[in-house]
Amino acid sequence: MQFFDSHAHYNDEKFKNEENILENIYNSGVTRLVCAGYNFVSSMKAIELAKNYDFVYATCGISPNDVEDIDNLNKLEDLLKNKKVVAIGEIGLDYYWNKENKELQKKLFIKQIELANKYNLPIVIHTREASLDTIEILKDYPCKRRGIFHCCPLNQELIKAGISLGYYISFSGNITFKNAKADPCIDLVPLDKLLIETDSPYLTPEPYRGTRNDSTKVKLVAKKISNLKNIPLEEIAKLTYKNANKIFNI
Ligand code: NI
Repeated sequence: MQFFDSHAHYNDEKFKNEENILENIYNSGVTRLVCAGYNFVSSMKAIELAKNYDFVYATCGISPNDVEDIDNLNKLEDLLKNKKVVAIGEIGLDYYWNKENKELQKKLFIKQIELANKYNLPIVIHTREASLDTIEILKDYPCKRRGIFHCCPLNQELIKAGISLGYYISFSGNITFKNAKADPCIDLVPLDKLLIETDSPYLTPEPYRGTRNDSTKVKLVAKKISNLKNIPLEEIAKLTYKNANKIFNI
Protein backbone atom coordinates (compact mmCIF):
# COMPACT_ATOMS: atom_id res chain seq x y z
CA MET A 1 0.00 0.00 0.00
CA GLN A 2 1.33 3.45 -0.89
CA PHE A 3 0.36 6.75 0.71
CA PHE A 4 0.71 10.40 -0.29
CA ASP A 5 1.12 12.86 2.59
CA SER A 6 -0.14 16.05 0.98
CA HIS A 7 1.26 18.42 3.64
CA ALA A 8 4.16 18.19 6.07
CA HIS A 9 6.96 20.44 7.35
CA TYR A 10 10.34 18.71 7.21
CA ASN A 11 11.67 22.25 6.92
CA ASP A 12 10.73 22.73 10.59
CA GLU A 13 13.39 23.05 13.29
CA LYS A 14 11.99 19.98 15.03
CA PHE A 15 13.37 17.76 12.28
CA LYS A 16 16.79 19.38 12.21
CA ASN A 17 18.82 16.52 13.60
CA GLU A 18 16.97 13.63 12.04
CA GLU A 19 18.90 12.79 8.94
CA ASN A 20 17.33 9.47 8.09
CA ILE A 21 13.74 10.40 8.73
CA LEU A 22 12.75 10.89 5.09
CA GLU A 23 14.29 7.56 4.03
CA ASN A 24 12.43 5.80 6.81
CA ILE A 25 9.18 7.45 5.80
CA TYR A 26 9.62 6.38 2.20
CA ASN A 27 10.40 2.82 3.26
CA SER A 28 7.26 2.73 5.40
CA GLY A 29 5.11 3.18 2.29
CA VAL A 30 4.63 6.94 2.22
CA THR A 31 6.12 7.22 -1.25
CA ARG A 32 5.16 10.81 -1.98
CA LEU A 33 4.93 13.89 0.19
CA VAL A 34 4.72 17.63 -0.12
CA CYS A 35 6.89 19.76 2.14
CA ALA A 36 5.08 23.05 2.68
CA GLY A 37 6.77 26.42 3.10
CA TYR A 38 5.25 29.14 5.28
CA ASN A 39 7.74 32.00 4.85
CA PHE A 40 10.71 32.72 2.61
CA VAL A 41 13.32 30.72 4.50
CA SER A 42 11.13 27.65 5.04
CA SER A 43 10.15 27.76 1.36
CA MET A 44 13.83 27.67 0.40
CA LYS A 45 14.35 24.73 2.73
CA ALA A 46 11.37 22.91 1.23
CA ILE A 47 12.91 23.23 -2.23
CA GLU A 48 16.26 22.02 -0.95
CA LEU A 49 14.62 18.88 0.44
CA ALA A 50 12.71 18.36 -2.79
CA LYS A 51 15.99 18.56 -4.69
CA ASN A 52 17.61 15.98 -2.43
CA TYR A 53 14.73 13.48 -2.39
CA ASP A 54 12.93 12.37 -5.54
CA PHE A 55 9.72 11.58 -3.66
CA VAL A 56 9.48 14.99 -1.97
CA TYR A 57 7.80 18.01 -3.61
CA ALA A 58 7.64 21.58 -2.33
CA THR A 59 5.23 24.45 -1.89
CA CYS A 60 6.40 28.02 -1.41
CA GLY A 61 4.42 30.73 0.27
CA ILE A 62 4.08 33.22 3.10
CA SER A 63 1.51 32.22 5.69
CA PRO A 64 -0.81 34.67 7.46
CA ASN A 65 1.27 34.15 10.60
CA ASP A 66 4.40 35.38 8.80
CA VAL A 67 3.04 38.63 7.32
CA GLU A 68 6.25 40.49 8.22
CA ASP A 69 7.78 38.50 5.35
CA ILE A 70 5.64 40.37 2.80
CA ASP A 71 8.75 42.28 1.70
CA ASN A 72 10.20 38.98 0.49
CA LEU A 73 7.47 38.37 -2.08
CA ASN A 74 9.80 39.24 -4.96
CA LYS A 75 12.40 36.76 -3.76
CA LEU A 76 9.65 34.18 -3.24
CA GLU A 77 8.60 34.64 -6.85
CA ASP A 78 12.06 33.49 -7.99
CA LEU A 79 11.62 30.24 -6.07
CA LEU A 80 8.46 29.41 -8.00
CA LYS A 81 10.48 28.76 -11.14
CA ASN A 82 11.88 25.57 -9.61
CA LYS A 83 10.45 22.44 -11.21
CA LYS A 84 9.57 20.71 -7.96
CA VAL A 85 7.41 23.55 -6.67
CA VAL A 86 3.88 22.19 -7.04
CA ALA A 87 1.80 24.92 -5.38
CA ILE A 88 1.85 28.26 -3.60
CA GLY A 89 1.28 27.74 0.08
CA GLU A 90 0.59 27.71 2.72
CA ILE A 91 -1.25 30.99 2.38
CA GLY A 92 -4.53 32.33 3.75
CA LEU A 93 -6.00 33.93 6.83
CA ASP A 94 -5.56 33.20 10.52
CA TYR A 95 -7.69 35.24 12.93
CA TYR A 96 -7.03 32.80 15.76
CA TRP A 97 -3.36 33.76 16.15
CA ASN A 98 -3.56 37.24 14.63
CA LYS A 99 -6.59 39.51 14.87
CA GLU A 100 -4.71 42.79 14.69
CA ASN A 101 -3.62 42.76 11.05
CA LYS A 102 -6.55 41.37 9.10
CA GLU A 103 -6.19 43.80 6.19
CA LEU A 104 -2.52 42.97 5.77
CA GLN A 105 -3.29 39.24 5.86
CA LYS A 106 -5.89 39.72 3.13
CA LYS A 107 -3.50 41.73 0.99
CA LEU A 108 -0.79 39.07 1.31
CA PHE A 109 -3.28 36.30 0.48
CA ILE A 110 -4.57 38.09 -2.62
CA LYS A 111 -1.07 38.93 -3.88
CA GLN A 112 -0.13 35.25 -3.65
CA ILE A 113 -3.29 34.12 -5.48
CA GLU A 114 -2.20 36.49 -8.25
CA LEU A 115 1.24 34.88 -8.24
CA ALA A 116 -0.36 31.44 -8.44
CA ASN A 117 -2.25 32.55 -11.52
CA LYS A 118 0.87 34.04 -13.07
CA TYR A 119 2.76 30.74 -12.67
CA ASN A 120 -0.26 28.51 -13.25
CA LEU A 121 -0.01 26.88 -9.82
CA PRO A 122 -2.72 25.78 -7.37
CA ILE A 123 -2.80 27.20 -3.85
CA VAL A 124 -2.62 25.51 -0.45
CA ILE A 125 -4.89 27.35 1.96
CA HIS A 126 -4.47 27.79 5.69
CA THR A 127 -7.63 29.20 7.25
CA ARG A 128 -8.39 29.49 10.93
CA GLU A 129 -11.37 31.33 12.40
CA ALA A 130 -11.58 33.22 9.12
CA SER A 131 -13.93 31.11 7.01
CA LEU A 132 -16.15 33.91 5.67
CA ASP A 133 -13.31 36.18 4.58
CA THR A 134 -11.43 33.23 3.07
CA ILE A 135 -14.37 32.20 0.91
CA GLU A 136 -15.08 35.80 -0.07
CA ILE A 137 -11.50 36.27 -1.27
CA LEU A 138 -11.58 33.00 -3.23
CA LYS A 139 -14.75 34.19 -4.95
CA ASP A 140 -13.44 37.69 -5.69
CA TYR A 141 -9.92 36.59 -6.66
CA PRO A 142 -10.32 33.12 -8.15
CA CYS A 143 -7.29 30.89 -8.45
CA LYS A 144 -7.40 29.32 -11.92
CA ARG A 145 -5.90 26.02 -10.82
CA ARG A 146 -7.93 26.01 -7.58
CA GLY A 147 -6.20 24.24 -4.69
CA ILE A 148 -6.52 22.63 -1.30
CA PHE A 149 -8.01 23.49 2.06
CA HIS A 150 -5.12 22.09 4.08
CA CYS A 151 -5.82 20.70 7.54
CA CYS A 152 -9.35 21.72 6.79
CA PRO A 153 -11.23 23.10 9.80
CA LEU A 154 -14.13 20.85 10.77
CA ASN A 155 -16.71 23.39 9.71
CA GLN A 156 -19.45 22.07 7.45
CA GLU A 157 -20.29 25.45 5.88
CA LEU A 158 -16.65 26.05 4.96
CA ILE A 159 -16.30 22.58 3.46
CA LYS A 160 -19.47 22.96 1.40
CA ALA A 161 -18.35 26.35 0.10
CA GLY A 162 -14.85 25.05 -0.67
CA ILE A 163 -16.17 22.09 -2.61
CA SER A 164 -18.62 24.22 -4.55
CA LEU A 165 -15.69 26.41 -5.64
CA GLY A 166 -13.83 23.32 -6.87
CA TYR A 167 -11.30 22.95 -4.06
CA TYR A 168 -9.88 19.79 -2.55
CA ILE A 169 -10.31 19.09 1.16
CA SER A 170 -7.33 17.72 3.07
CA PHE A 171 -7.81 16.15 6.49
CA SER A 172 -5.11 15.71 9.09
CA GLY A 173 -4.83 14.04 12.51
CA ASN A 174 -7.43 16.42 13.87
CA ILE A 175 -10.20 14.15 12.52
CA THR A 176 -9.06 11.45 14.96
CA PHE A 177 -9.35 13.66 18.06
CA LYS A 178 -11.96 12.60 20.56
CA ASN A 179 -14.30 15.60 20.53
CA ALA A 180 -13.66 16.59 16.94
CA LYS A 181 -17.15 15.97 15.48
CA ALA A 182 -15.38 15.04 12.26
CA ASP A 183 -17.80 12.49 10.86
CA PRO A 184 -20.36 14.80 9.21
CA CYS A 185 -17.51 16.85 7.76
CA ILE A 186 -15.78 13.84 6.21
CA ASP A 187 -19.14 12.71 4.88
CA LEU A 188 -19.50 15.94 2.90
CA VAL A 189 -16.37 15.43 0.84
CA PRO A 190 -16.74 13.59 -2.48
CA LEU A 191 -14.11 10.89 -3.02
CA ASP A 192 -12.53 12.76 -5.90
CA LYS A 193 -11.86 15.81 -3.71
CA LEU A 194 -10.42 14.04 -0.70
CA LEU A 195 -6.78 14.31 0.46
CA ILE A 196 -4.89 13.17 3.53
CA GLU A 197 -1.99 14.84 5.32
CA THR A 198 -0.12 14.91 8.60
CA ASP A 199 0.94 18.59 8.90
CA SER A 200 3.98 17.11 10.68
CA PRO A 201 5.41 17.89 13.17
CA TYR A 202 1.99 19.06 14.41
CA LEU A 203 -1.45 17.49 14.85
CA THR A 204 -0.40 13.96 15.65
CA PRO A 205 -3.36 11.57 15.30
CA GLU A 206 -4.76 9.54 18.16
CA PRO A 207 -3.55 7.47 19.94
CA TYR A 208 -0.25 9.38 19.67
CA ARG A 209 -1.65 12.88 20.20
CA GLY A 210 0.84 15.11 22.01
CA THR A 211 3.96 13.51 20.54
CA ARG A 212 5.86 14.78 17.51
CA ASN A 213 4.16 13.80 14.26
CA ASP A 214 5.71 12.34 11.12
CA SER A 215 4.35 11.19 7.78
CA THR A 216 4.15 7.49 8.67
CA LYS A 217 1.09 8.44 10.73
CA VAL A 218 -0.84 9.56 7.64
CA LYS A 219 -2.13 5.98 7.65
CA LEU A 220 -4.10 6.72 10.83
CA VAL A 221 -5.86 9.58 9.07
CA ALA A 222 -6.66 7.29 6.13
CA LYS A 223 -7.88 4.61 8.53
CA LYS A 224 -10.33 6.97 10.19
CA ILE A 225 -11.78 7.91 6.80
CA SER A 226 -11.86 4.26 5.72
CA ASN A 227 -13.86 3.32 8.81
CA LEU A 228 -16.29 6.15 8.46
CA LYS A 229 -16.94 5.83 4.75
CA ASN A 230 -16.83 2.02 4.96
CA ILE A 231 -14.32 1.83 2.13
CA PRO A 232 -11.23 -0.44 2.37
CA LEU A 233 -8.06 1.33 3.53
CA GLU A 234 -6.33 0.33 0.32
CA GLU A 235 -8.96 2.18 -1.72
CA ILE A 236 -8.60 5.32 0.41
CA ALA A 237 -4.82 5.14 -0.02
CA LYS A 238 -5.19 4.77 -3.78
CA LEU A 239 -7.74 7.48 -4.36
CA THR A 240 -6.06 10.07 -2.15
CA TYR A 241 -2.76 9.31 -3.92
CA LYS A 242 -4.40 9.84 -7.28
CA ASN A 243 -6.14 13.03 -6.16
CA ALA A 244 -2.88 14.49 -4.83
CA ASN A 245 -1.06 13.73 -8.09
CA LYS A 246 -3.86 15.41 -9.96
CA ILE A 247 -4.05 18.68 -8.01
CA PHE A 248 -0.25 18.99 -7.80
CA ASN A 249 0.10 17.96 -11.45
CA ILE A 250 2.76 15.35 -10.72
NI1 NI B 1 1.09 23.40 7.65
